[in-house]
Amino acid sequence: MRKNYAVIAAGGLGTRLKNFKDNLHTKVLIDIDGMSMISTQINQLKSWGFLDFVVITNPDFHDLIVNDIKQNHRNLNISFVVQDQPKGIAHALSFAESKVDDDSLVTFILGDNFFGENPLEGIDFKNFKGSQIFAINVNNPDEFGVMELDRDNNLINIHEKPKEFISSLAVVGVYIYEKTCFEFIKQLNPSARGELEITDLNKLYLTNNLLNYSIINSWWIDAGTEERIKKLKKLI
Ligand code: DAU
Repeated sequence: MRKNYAVIAAGGLGTRLKNFKDNLHTKVLIDIDGMSMISTQINQLKSWGFLDFVVITNPDFHDLIVNDIKQNHRNLNISFVVQDQPKGIAHALSFAESKVDDDSLVTFILGDNFFGENPLEGIDFKNFKGSQIFAINVNNPDEFGVMELDRDNNLINIHEKPKEFISSLAVVGVYIYEKTCFEFIKQLNPSARGELEITDLNKLYLTNNLLNYSIINSWWIDAGTEERIKKLKKLI
């Protein structure tokens, strides 16, 4: 059977949370409900049926993250890779290439993204082609990647943190790709802020007519700010 790896991005610096009360290390080690955010993330992915994991860390917190996961999750098929510099979410994903078998699928999730219900429910993994993104209606689309649809609801563009209103459909931080993603990432150029953007990777799939989307209805939290972490603690 085609393997589907859960690849988790935990490589950023979490600088917005530096002064948050229990953030002694990095965002993904913040306590959520008696467990770190990264171990809570693995619980979420296990509950969605994942068996194979790759965690992308950053050099400063690698050992702490590995120890935390090993303490909380025994007998897990898990590999760790270090993203040498925080040069973007697609850059982080590129480090997982050597850990993923040929012909397998990659479900890439941002370590700080949590969902009320499994967004992958109903995806036909057996016949999966190209890539898949998920979106949800939000009041603050300027803080996320945003989908632009035409009148027939065809996806025509994605805008990363647009200053002008495009739509209220925020792209959430879980993405499914065939292993082609690693070749596509090699074609990306750094954005104005010097990062390899996940939005640019998705746009490359879109240009190749290989990007699907669906809308999710349950709650979703990108736990990237103090306020959203407090909300997540209540919901989990
Ligand atoms: O949460 C959904 C949003 O996530 C999407 O709508 C945006 O399109 C996408 O760019 C992303 O935006 P954020 O501003 O939330 O990304 P952030 O820089 O906070 O990074 C999200 C996670 O990815 C973070 O928890 C750590 C990881 N990361 C980030 C960077 C920049 C890495 O592992 N390596 C990196 O170099």
